[in-house]
This record gives sequence, C-alpha cells and structure tokens, in this order.
Amino acid sequence: MALSSRLIILSNNFLNNNASSLNVISSRAGSWWSHVEMGPPDAILGVTEAFKRDTNPNKINLGVGAYRDDDGKPFVLPSVRKAEDRMRSKNLDKEYSPIGGSAQFCELSINLALGDGSEQVKNGLNATLQGISGTGALRLGGAFLAAFFPGNKEVYLPTPSWGNHTPIFKHSGLGVKQYRYYDPNTCGFDFQGALQDIAKMPERSIILLHACAHNPTGVDPSPQQWAEISKVVKQKKLFPFFDMAYQGFASGDVDKDAFALRHFVKEGHETIVTQSYAKNMGLYGERVGAFSLITSSKEEAQRTMSQLKIIVRPMYSNPPINGARIVTEILSDSSLKAEWLKDVKGMAERIISVRAQLRDNLKKEGSSRDWSHITDQIGMFCFTGLNAQQAERLTKDFSVYLTKDGRISMAGVTSKNVKYLAHAIHEVTK
Ligand code: LMR
Repeated sequence: MALSSRLIILSNNFLNNNASSLNVISSRAGSWWSHVEMGPPDAILGVTEAFKRDTNPNKINLGVGAYRDDDGKPFVLPSVRKAEDRMRSKNLDKEYSPIGGSAQFCELSINLALGDGSEQVKNGLNATLQGISGTGALRLGGAFLAAFFPGNKEVYLPTPSWGNHTPIFKHSGLGVKQYRYYDPNTCGFDFQGALQDIAKMPERSIILLHACAHNPTGVDPSPQQWAEISKVVKQKKLFPFFDMAYQGFASGDVDKDAFALRHFVKEGHETIVTQSYAKNMGLYGERVGAFSLITSSKEEAQRTMSQLKIIVRPMYSNPPINGARIVTEILSDSSLKAEWLKDVKGMAERIISVRAQLRDNLKKEGSSRDWSHITDQIGMFCFTGLNAQQAERLTKDFSVYLTKDGRISMAGVTSKNVKYLAHAIHEVTK
C-alpha cells in the first residue's frame, strides 16, 4: 500500500477512535446519574426557599422554627454578643477540638440538662459529647443504638413527630414505629392513647420522647402525666431517648422545661438525651448541641464513650469549635448565664404573648371556632388544626408560608403581622 493511502487509513482510524471515545465519554457523562430522580424539597427547610421567591410585601414565613424579634428580624441574643466580644479579646487559636468536643463544654451541657449537682454527673455516669446541633446529636445516638443497643432495634416516635426524626433514625439503620400522641379532636395530648400504645410496645424497644415543647404540636404532657409515662416505660423495660431541643423555650425556665428528663433520671432510667443550642441560644447556624448517654456505672460511661468517639471519627472527625466556645463562655460565668436566662425568658414570653394576640385577633375577625389550643400549646410551634388544603390556600392566596401539616412557627408572628395572619387564617377556615 502506498504511504499516502496508509496515512489516510491511519488518520481515519484516529478520527474514528477519537469519535467513539468521545461518544463513550459523552454517553458516560450522561449516564452515571441518569437513574437519579429529582427529590422533593425538604418539608420544613423547603418552605423557606419558596418564601424567599415570593414578592408579596405582606408575606410571612411561619415554616422553619427560627426565632424572630417583634420586627420579624433574626435575633442574636445580647448574651451571645457579649460572649463573642469576650472571645475576640482572648485571641483564641483554631486548633482541632477533641473528637467528643471540649470537656468543659460537655460538662456544662449535661449540668444544664440534669441540673447542677446531679448524682449522675457527680458519679461520672454520663458519656457526653458535643453534637453537631440537635440533629447531629440525634444521628450519633441513632448510630450508637444501631451498633450496640441490646434489645429491639426499633425507635417508637410520637405521632406526629419532628419531620427529620424518621429520616435520621432510618439513616442510622434503625426501624421506626409510632405511638399515639396528638389528639386532633382536642388539639391536645392523647394521654390514654399514648399509654395504651406504650404498654403494647415489645419489651426492650426504644421510645423517643420530646423533653418539652413538642415539635410539631406544641403539646406537652403535664408533670403528672410524665410520671405515669415513666412508670409504663419502666414496666415495659423500654429505653427512653429524650430529644431536648427547646430547653428554656417552652416556659422560659430551663429547670421547668427539664422536668421530664430529670424525673426519668431520678426514677432510675438509663437514658439518652440530645440537646440543641439552636433555639435557646439562637445559635442555629453554629451547629452546636450535645449528646449524653446516662449509664449505670462510671466504667460503663467510659466504655460507651470510647465507642461513641469511634463512631464520630469517620463521620466528621471532631466538632466545630466556635459555637461550643460561645456556649462555654455563657454557661461558665454566673453573671453571663443569668443574662442568658433572661434572654431565653424574653423569647419565650414574646411567643406566649403573640399566641394570645393571634387568638384575640381571630376572635375580632369574627371566627366562631375554638382557638384555645393556640394559647394552650407551648414552645415554638402551634399545630393549628388547619388541613393541607387550608394550609395551601394560606400560602397561595395570602403568602403565609407554613408546613403542610398545619404547623406554624409562632416565632414568626409579630405584633405587626398578627392581624394580617388572623385575617388570612379566618378566611381559609370560615
Ligand atoms: C423545625 O422544626 O423547624 C426546626 O427544628 C428546624 C429544622 O431543622 O427542621
């Protein structure tokens, strides 16, 4: 074959090969993830995205539970600002945190949960680690239980529960079941239903309890009801897991809001408690919380602690330092702590006051419905009783954003928008 013909064949081969490899690349680039379907927006955080796109000047975001001041603005607690000022003057380093977070932060956190001078802390019966806010602490608990819980690896959640509980526990590899909690007829606590369901749970299962300010319903058991629940949980040999994301936010008093947890601990339950500083210190984006396992001996606390660290290390290595430093600065100084307690009380009181304003305004609008649950419920949220269609109309016709289950974040209600909100609610419910 002549040299020129050979060159033509070679160059054709080159072109063909290149073309086919380009095809492979392009088809591969298009094919690796072609099976991945578009997921739905998050049931809670997705509401904020939709709110941001709305151009109505009267729009109100009552979706996510994030505190707002009476001008509807995000609120940084004065005690937190002060802690940050102090931190700045200390010229702190940016070294890694220990895997479980700073020991001082952990001790302050468990003392806040159980109360200063608790027997458990005095005797070293707690394995406490910093969590990446409440969610991270719950996920750590899920991972620990999936690996080591010696009973039925199923978590029983109240119906309804925070929308992220089910994904967190399923993602941890645990089964998820339900027990009755909220009674739509009374917009209150279904005490008998809850007791009956708890009594039917298989022995040695895990029960998730909202320590206070139940999310999404704002419905909490009374102290007497908690005492009954504690008894049944003990009889059934269930493992109680307390999610305490709102300590101080429910009543304005951190001790009162810790009643359920402290009662269970006093009654001898070994338990897990997860804490979040998102709401009570307004440290949402700092992602700071705590995880504690209360054990029956110091040695058991040490062993479980070692395993918890082994879980944390491959997940996120060690927790972020800034939020934990703010918390430490506040809780370790009695005068700054007292200021913080005032800040928490102020937030709780503003929420309690807008509950009353919303109820009054609904009455003024002429609503004949019974809205007493707005003021009976407690904490960040009100479970209005609105159905999905009514919730949708509230958004479509009035630019009032809320989750589809009819939950509204009372923290987004202000003395300025409450009249508009009451009008909108009345329009969709009359
Ligand atoms: C909520 O329920 O709105 C908050 O706990 C925020 C969140 O992460 O869902």
